[in-house]
Amino acid sequence: MIDQATVSRILDAADIVDVVSDFVQLKRRGANWIGLCPFHNDRNPSFYVSRAKNICKCFSCGKGGSPVNFIMEHQQMSYVEALRYLAAKYHIEIKERELTDEERAAQTERESMMVLNEWACKFFEHQLHETRDGQEIGMAYLRERGFSDATIKNFHLGYSPEGVSTLYDAAIKQGYSHDLLVAVGLCIANEHGGARDRFRGRIIFPITNVAGKVVAFAGRTLRKEDKAKYVNSPESTIYSKRRELYGLSQAKRAIAKEDKCFIVEGYADVISMHQAGFENVVASSGTALTNEQINAISRFTTDVTEMFDGDEAGIHAALRGVDMLLAQNLNIKVIVLPDDDDPDSFSRKHNHSEIQDFIAKNEEDFIRFKSRILLNGVEHDPIKRAAAIGDIIKSIAVIPNAITRSVYVQECAMRFHIAEEVLLREINKVISHNKEEERKRKQSKQNDVQADDPDTPVAQPMEPQITTIPTPARSESGNNGDAASANIQMQERNIINLIVKYGMCYLCDTDYDDGSVHPTTVVEYIRNEMELDALSFTTSSHELVYMLALNSLPEFQRALQSEQQRINEDSQQTLRDELAQIDPIGHNQDSMRKEEEAVEARINERIVAHINDFRRTFLERRLCSHANDEVRKLACDIVSEPYQLSKIHTQYATIATEFDRLNTLVPDAINNWKYAIVEQQIKKLKNALDHATADEQTQLMEQMNNLYAMRRELAKITGERVVTP
Ligand code: CTP
Ligand code: MN
Repeated sequence: MIDQATVSRILDAADIVDVVSDFVQLKRRGANWIGLCPFHNDRNPSFYVSRAKNICKCFSCGKGGSPVNFIMEHQQMSYVEALRYLAAKYHIEIKERELTDEERAAQTERESMMVLNEWACKFFEHQLHETRDGQEIGMAYLRERGFSDATIKNFHLGYSPEGVSTLYDAAIKQGYSHDLLVAVGLCIANEHGGARDRFRGRIIFPITNVAGKVVAFAGRTLRKEDKAKYVNSPESTIYSKRRELYGLSQAKRAIAKEDKCFIVEGYADVISMHQAGFENVVASSGTALTNEQINAISRFTTDVTEMFDGDEAGIHAALRGVDMLLAQNLNIKVIVLPDDDDPDSFSRKHNHSEIQDFIAKNEEDFIRFKSRILLNGVEHDPIKRAAAIGDIIKSIAVIPNAITRSVYVQECAMRFHIAEEVLLREINKVISHNKEEERKRKQSKQNDVQADDPDTPVAQPMEPQITTIPTPARSESGNNGDAASANIQMQERNIINLIVKYGMCYLCDTDYDDGSVHPTTVVEYIRNEMELDALSFTTSSHELVYMLALNSLPEFQRALQSEQQRINEDSQQTLRDELAQIDPIGHNQDSMRKEEEAVEARINERIVAHINDFRRTFLERRLCSHANDEVRKLACDIVSEPYQLSKIHTQYATIATEFDRLNTLVPDAINNWKYAIVEQQIKKLKNALDHATADEQTQLMEQMNNLYAMRRELAKITGERVVTP
């Protein structure tokens, strides 16, 4: 695991112009660099790179972000992989965090298993290409199936010989241990302390993880009489069937590039599709997709097309399990192949453009597909029709995006001749039912301790403990998306904008209760104000960013001190140099002193500007490259927002930047936030008044008056609002 100090060094070193230039030809334009976007087919340069903000962004497709984001996206790497890439580029030695004994043991086991599998993969390939049985049995079979030599090499297909323990014996001779061979599942132990090979006389399909490491094998039989057509490696420390998708490591680049992924059922389907020129294909390996597999795909695209065999079983498979994809906000399409074909046979019968044609003509939105299939033949049976519609409603209800959902509602209303309101009501019922189930599930899960993903850096200083302080807004909002809570969201976001962009900037001195006076940063000021009124954020990503900012204060103070020291030393030298350069000729003592003062003032100005810059970029840079996807996205969005608005003309017709106006912007933002919360409470109270008894009403009225008074106060301070009585 990379330690936090190293992560910081990598992030500080990575210069966006430099990182992007390795892949994109950039031209200077004003303060920015521009080029052709590497993430979509760009004709006119729409890819902007800002060295000042250290981010890039395509104004056409929206992709981009910090140097880490860019590398993750462009090289299809994980966060940690991208950090390692950048470390190598900038020659930064990676200091690994000390592992615990347990972690070390687990890591060693994982690594040895991967090494053994890598060796076994080569062994099987060698058997296929270099032995007589391999050629006469294995290769003959693969050629007959129509696999080309290039394809066979690309997927590292192999052959496992018939002998009882050919691989076992060879592995032991190489020094691999009996226990490891059994643990990784290549061999099955017998009671005499020896073992036999698991995949005897089979064609071998290595199964790799997303990074391309061999984690398991599948062996296809060549004998008709075998019960199991495929034998797979058992689950192990490095292989979880739920997690892997066959072909993902070979397909990931193409998936990202085409922004689309085909899902097929089997190994042969993936391979034949590749051979036909469709590289963005992965297989679920004969089972329904799991959430882990869906997450793996959604790293690369949100557009997924499932391909199914044309028979009855294929169509039924299509109807099962797809709701899970919808629930992950993926756009799902379905293709049903002609009768008797699977993707493997279909792609061998047709050439690339025929297949492309077929896809274009037959690809169907999943909800439409489901409606068509379920309603087919039940038009005149009201009961069956109602059941079918209920089923379709269930699918629509799991789509998280409200806009997408409403588009489907409109379409289905037309198709089924049912009023939109009726459909909506039914869908909302299903949604609240699902929410309740989810809540119950989460509650029971909270008691379980979650295992850490070995690839995600944990326990970094920047990682907060998120505590949820109940606030007026949270406890009463009921989350129903009304105007009042929308306004609160907006005000929260405004505060977060200020934190991300200016969190570490100096705002004012604060007198604390103990009599001390401290210089206060923007984020500290916001914290003080929030504590005063027990405010907290209602959106988890906002809360997260806020906590991250607070938690990075100690690191910031240390970094600021050493930066100050460094620049002071530098400036001393510059001062001496520049003073020495003043030509005394033509000066009297007075004018000489003035000249010296001017030099000094100029250098001091430079120091101030430099430190301000350091404060401004410290948090921004870290958040834009943070390990948490949500944080990174939010921060990059904020930083890349166009900043015309931040420049305003004051009454003196000079231009003041947001930075210059922080001392009014920050307090105003907080007041607006409080105002929004008070507004919401007033609204709730009004509601309560409508249903209250006479006694309760008196009490509620009193509360209401308090709220009105608060609102007036807030309006006065902000001075921008008109209070409506
Ligand atoms: N499968 C499996 N174990 C089995 C049978 C099937 O893991 N005993 C998985 C494999 O991933 C297989 C997929 O289910 O690729 C689809 O099964 P099937 O259609 O029977 O195999 P095909 O991929 O069509 O294999 P082939 O073309 O070689 O017959
Ligand atoms: Mn097949």
